[in-house]
Amino acid sequence: MHRKVLLVTGGAGFIGSNFVLEAIHRGHKVVNLDALTYAGNIDNLASIAGDPAHTFVHGSILDGPLVTRLLDEHQPDAVVHFAAESHVDRSILGPAAFVDTNIVGTFTLLEAALKHWRSLPDGNGFRFLHVSTDEVYGSLTPEEAAFHEETSYRPNSPYSASKAASDHLVRAYFHTYRLPVVTTNCSNNYGPYQFPEKLIPLMIHNAVEGKPLPVYGDGQNVRDWLYVTDHCDAILTVLEKGRLGETYNVGGLNEQKNLDVVHTLCAILDELHPEGAPHDRLITYVKDRPGHDRRYAIDCSKLQGELGWAPKESFRTGIRKTVEWYLDHQSWVAKIVSGEYRDWITGNYGTRS
Ligand code: NAD
Ligand code: DAU
Repeated sequence: MHRKVLLVTGGAGFIGSNFVLEAIHRGHKVVNLDALTYAGNIDNLASIAGDPAHTFVHGSILDGPLVTRLLDEHQPDAVVHFAAESHVDRSILGPAAFVDTNIVGTFTLLEAALKHWRSLPDGNGFRFLHVSTDEVYGSLTPEEAAFHEETSYRPNSPYSASKAASDHLVRAYFHTYRLPVVTTNCSNNYGPYQFPEKLIPLMIHNAVEGKPLPVYGDGQNVRDWLYVTDHCDAILTVLEKGRLGETYNVGGLNEQKNLDVVHTLCAILDELHPEGAPHDRLITYVKDRPGHDRRYAIDCSKLQGELGWAPKESFRTGIRKTVEWYLDHQSWVAKIVSGEYRDWITGNYGTRS
């Protein structure tokens, strides 16, 4: 891809920061707009501190005039939109922030992008890439075929409903105004810099601390896990070659039951961090997440066949790299869990306030 200027939203979060690091590595310039909510962490970007290719802007996608100013000032080739409230459990306990950020925030961004695109003498190259999730499709039974791009939307949590609403707005801005958009719907990511409220980093952290490993329900829920840099590569591929107005599913071709994931983590920790082994003695079944989707599976053959993308990392190598990263970055985790977030990593779902 030619070197581009990218306006990235949410580039201090888990996937966003991995994306920013990769985009800079590939020679692009990044203007990174992030509100630094509890999930945003400027430390994720320490390795590019002072790099003139990266401009960090502390601000919100809900601030329309700020977004307009950034578009005018930096004339980006594309907006890559990650910023969101992303944790299902939090959406159950407090859905309002999800409506504000994921729906109103995306709307605010689309409005600013539309005005900007219309003002360009030649807007042909401009792109708005919306990063979304497989959760918009709802839940599968074990027998059902994987989600594909034509699967009906059936979101089940306030999080997935808010992401579905944002997907619909993005679609409408293409069909109504011809804003040049593309959307990606990805499965569960894992890897470095994931906030330790999500399954994999939470389990690693608790196991190292000798705390219970809270498995929701019967632990038989299935997710399709993709290493985060493969997701970033998919986004860059879609940005370069994706057809306007299309959606592309991104997946790891790697369905796993939660309990199996936790046992895998415990086995790797037994080897790399033998203190406290066997770690699977810490597995504790806790009250299930309300409305817990049973199974996600992604058919990403459109992205593979049309654009030539494929995941590079296997789960076997990716999960080991991830455990190694968390063991090597315990100060990164310690800084997070010493703050406001502390309460989230102890009890089970039912006891969280
Ligand atoms: P995250 O929670 O780790 O990061 C979200 C980032 O957005 C944070 O840096 C936060 O500060 C920022 N943010 C929140 N509100 C903002 C606002 N109003 N203005 C500017 N910045 C704001 O999330 P993530 O896991 O990296 O997910 C990123 C995107 O990818 C989300 O849109 C999510 O729906 C989508 N997604 C995530 C996964 C996954 O497995 N994590 C899978 C598929 C899709
Ligand atoms: O599918 C993509 C989605 O994956 C993204 O859109 C979301 O932003 C991301 O958070 C993720 O959602 P999940 O709800 O699938 O991820 P989470 O890590 O919260 O949970 C993964 C599975 O593990 C899920 O079935 C719930 C279960 N779980 C989770 C936690 C935090 C547990 O059993 N115990 C836990 O403590």
